[in-house]
Amino acid sequence: MPNAVSLAPAVSALSPAPTFHAPLHTAHDDDAWWRSSVIYQVYPRSFRDLNGDGQGDLAGITAELHQLADLSVDAIWMSPFYTSPQRDGGYDVADYCDVDPMFGTLEDFDRLTARATKLGIKVIIDLVPNHCSSEHALFKAALAAEPGSPERAMFIFRDGTGPDGSNPPNNWQSHFGGSAWTRTLNDDGTPGQWYLHLFDSSQPDFNWDNPAVHAEFERILRFWLDRNVTGFRVDVAHALVKAEGLPDWHGRPDGCSTEEHPGHAAPMFGQRAIHDIYRRWRSILGEYDGDRILCAEATIDPLSRLVNWVRNDQMHQAFNFAYLHHPWDAARLREIITDSLQAFDSVGAPTTWVLSNHDVPRHATRFGEERPEVGLDRARAASLAMLALPGGVYLYQGEELGLPDHLTIPDELRQDPTFVRTGGERVGRDGCRVPLPWRADEPHYGFGSNDGGWLPQPEDWATLARDSQQADPASTLNLYRSALSLRKELGLGAGSLSWAVDADGTDTIAFLNNDVMVIFNMGQSDINVPAGSVLAASHADAGADGVLAPNRCVWLRLN
Ligand code: GLC
Repeated sequence: MPNAVSLAPAVSALSPAPTFHAPLHTAHDDDAWWRSSVIYQVYPRSFRDLNGDGQGDLAGITAELHQLADLSVDAIWMSPFYTSPQRDGGYDVADYCDVDPMFGTLEDFDRLTARATKLGIKVIIDLVPNHCSSEHALFKAALAAEPGSPERAMFIFRDGTGPDGSNPPNNWQSHFGGSAWTRTLNDDGTPGQWYLHLFDSSQPDFNWDNPAVHAEFERILRFWLDRNVTGFRVDVAHALVKAEGLPDWHGRPDGCSTEEHPGHAAPMFGQRAIHDIYRRWRSILGEYDGDRILCAEATIDPLSRLVNWVRNDQMHQAFNFAYLHHPWDAARLREIITDSLQAFDSVGAPTTWVLSNHDVPRHATRFGEERPEVGLDRARAASLAMLALPGGVYLYQGEELGLPDHLTIPDELRQDPTFVRTGGERVGRDGCRVPLPWRADEPHYGFGSNDGGWLPQPEDWATLARDSQQADPASTLNLYRSALSLRKELGLGAGSLSWAVDADGTDTIAFLNNDVMVIFNMGQSDINVPAGSVLAASHADAGADGVLAPNRCVWLRLN
């Protein structure tokens, strides 16, 4: 006799003639490209290594751009490729106006943009204005200069506290663990002033109270705008200005709210004067032709505060971290989508959606909860649901292959400063940054070098390699290809959203965008879905015979 566990789970149903709540978000007529864009994040060091030195390079990106055109993306956003000692994956910039020899030259960059333009792909680059590398000429000059000098005033130097100045100026903590201050040594070897670094000690924070810092970044913006970039993703955009007097802070080092210490009280994040900087930058972008954009990386909560970054005289887009961090929970996801659309609509800005980037475990790993197959099923369904949402989408290289994180990188090969700064307590972000697999049968899956890449790849990626997936109509790559092309064809990015009444309070996400009904089963049981033609399905069986199994998503045109 079958036991209770093996009995088929109860089938719940969405009504065959579904009804919808009044639209939460309506389609708009503003056809600015960035209101509905799909932007693909390239992490250059791990994309494609054309010269075989184990590091991805600009020429490698250029050589493969056609593969991204094939995914119908509007733009790429390139993580930093500037001159850098790579202490924090290039977010430690030693020269903002040059290419690190590891990645190539400025001419390689020009070739990349020329090829991208030919393929109809815009190029957005990463601007890192909060801090530079300790190898930057300005910081070296500051170290060599006296306390109180104009050189030191480019950064945040302070005397220490305590009788001999041996305690840091305040209690701020680095994002990567440990104090946010490092003490310098004077020429004669005696201990000197301290400098602030919200990240690694090799990443000194600029002093944005100093007009010379503003001038320097305006020069950098123009340098790249003149080189035809379509815009900038602005790194830690909420941190540039610090509260006067640098008061102690007892909340989270990343400024995210806790009950006792709401993020709006953090002295190193979200200060009012920041908004004037972006107003100025927006007006600079406006001097250039083409519809160029700024996108904020600002871990500001709640969403109603974040949208201050995207008022129409400031940035165009901001990453939606609430969405990025949503758990596998339909009620919570519904709430985040609702809050996001309401918040961004309130200032007339597009919402963005993102499931993976170079700073978090990939969503195939997060959603799997240690079960890789479940992770891939869920990642495919979650991606298909995301691609039907109105607004802009950010994709991270490799998610279109369904890549999971590499979970067993040996400690001695780890590169992320978080690992060392926390004594291994936090393994860091290397797992989502490993080189991409291009060809199943080649060494290191055709990433580039016969000796491997700068981080090792897992041993079981042959079936995930791009060429294996190209040939397989059921692959994750082909799912992304068809969904992205349909998203464009059906105008879903510029579309609307109305929640299905039947799905209220259930484990199912169900909404209408234009005339497409999207159903995403996050529960444990099969559900019956209304009759209609299947436009896109996360799995071959999704929506077949009117049934949607758990961890599946389907786009339907209702009969
Ligand atoms: C941003 C980047 C991250 C980097 C940090 C410091 O959060 O995305 O990779 O470590 O800024 O620049």
